[in-house]
Amino acid sequence: MSLNPPNRTGMTLETFIMEGMLGVPAATGAFTSLLNQIAFAAKLVTSQVRRAGLANVLGYTGGVNVQGEHVMKLDELANETLITALARRGHCAAVASEELEDVHFITNDQRARYVVMFDPLDGSSNIDVNISIGTIFAVLRRAEGEDVSASTFLKPGRELAAAGYVIYGSSTMVVLSTGREKGVHGFTYDPSVGEFFLSHENIRIPEQGSTYSINEGNHSRWSEPVKRWNSWIKGEGDGRPYGSRYVGTLVADAHRTLLKGGIFAYPVDAKSPKGKLRLLYEANPFAFLVEAAGGAATNGTERILDLEPTSLHQRTSLVLGSKLDVETFASFMRGDR
Ligand code: AHG
Ligand code: MN
Ligand code: MN
Repeated sequence: MSLNPPNRTGMTLETFIMEGMLGVPAATGAFTSLLNQIAFAAKLVTSQVRRAGLANVLGYTGGVNVQGEHVMKLDELANETLITALARRGHCAAVASEELEDVHFITNDQRARYVVMFDPLDGSSNIDVNISIGTIFAVLRRAEGEDVSASTFLKPGRELAAAGYVIYGSSTMVVLSTGREKGVHGFTYDPSVGEFFLSHENIRIPEQGSTYSINEGNHSRWSEPVKRWNSWIKGEGDGRPYGSRYVGTLVADAHRTLLKGGIFAYPVDAKSPKGKLRLLYEANPFAFLVEAAGGAATNGTERILDLEPTSLHQRTSLVLGSKLDVETFASFMRGDR
C-alpha cells in the first residue's frame, strides 16, 4: 500500500509552488521564493492572530490609517510582518498597503522583479469579537528596466502575476492562483507541523449559487436598481429566494462565495458614492481569483480586472461570485429587469 496516494496528500504549499504546480515561471526561482515568503508571513500573522486575545494586541492604537479608520494593533503587526518578510530575499522592489499612505520602497535593484499590494488585516471590525478576518495580497511584475514608483502599482488587475488571501477562520487557509490556466488552490495550516497542506485543489465556483451576501443595513442608501435586485433575490418577485449570509469581512464572505457559489455585493451607496472596497488590494485580488475559478467580478456592470487604477487607495463597488448570479445583478443595473 503506498504511503501517499497519488492525490498528493501531505503536499505542502512550499512543495506545490516549488514543483511548478502553480505555473510560476520556475526559471529563476524568484517568483517561487516570493510566494514562499508570503506563505511564511502568513504563518507569522496567523500566530499573532491566534494570540491576539491573549497578547493584548486588541484595542485601538489610537492611530488612524489613510482611510480615516482607527487602526487596531493587529493591523499594524500584520503590516510590519508582511513588509519585513517581503523585504527578505531581494525579489520584491516595493509594497503598497492599506496601512501606508504611499508606496514603501524596498530596492530598485533590477533583480527585484515584483511589487506586492496587500490588505494586511481585512475585517478589522471583527478582530475583537473573534470573527474570521484575513489578509489579501496581489503580485505584479515590474516591466524590464522600470524604475519603481506608485505608477508601477497602477495596473489593471488583469495584469496580476498572482493573487491570494489568508483566512484566519476556524482554521487558517491560504488560497492563491497565478491565473486561469493553473487554477485556484487552497492550503490549510497545521499548527502542529507549521505547514500549509493542500486541502482544496483546483477550486471551481458553481455556475449559479443559492446565497447572497450584502450589508442590508445600507438598504436606504442604495440606488433603485440595487433595491430592485435585492427584492428579487429575496423572492419578493418571480425569483426563488436565496439564503442570506454576511460576515462583514470581505475575505470570509468572498471565500464562502468562492467555495459555495452565489453572489457577494458591496455596491456604491449614498454614504460611499465611489464604493467602500479598495480596488488594488481588495477588489482586484478577489476578482482575479474568482475569474480563475470560473466566476465573475464586476463593479456592477464593468469587469473589475479591466478598471484602470488612478490611485493606490481608490475605492470601487464590487460584485463577485457565480457567473450567472453576477450577470443577473448586472441585468438589474442595466434596467433590463
Ligand atoms: P478592512 O478591515 O481591511 O478595512 O476591510 C473591511 C471591509 C471588508 O472586509 C468588508 O467586506 C467591509 O469592510 C464590510 O463593510 P461594512 O461593515 O460597511 O459592511
Ligand atoms: Mn479590507
Ligand atoms: Mn485592512
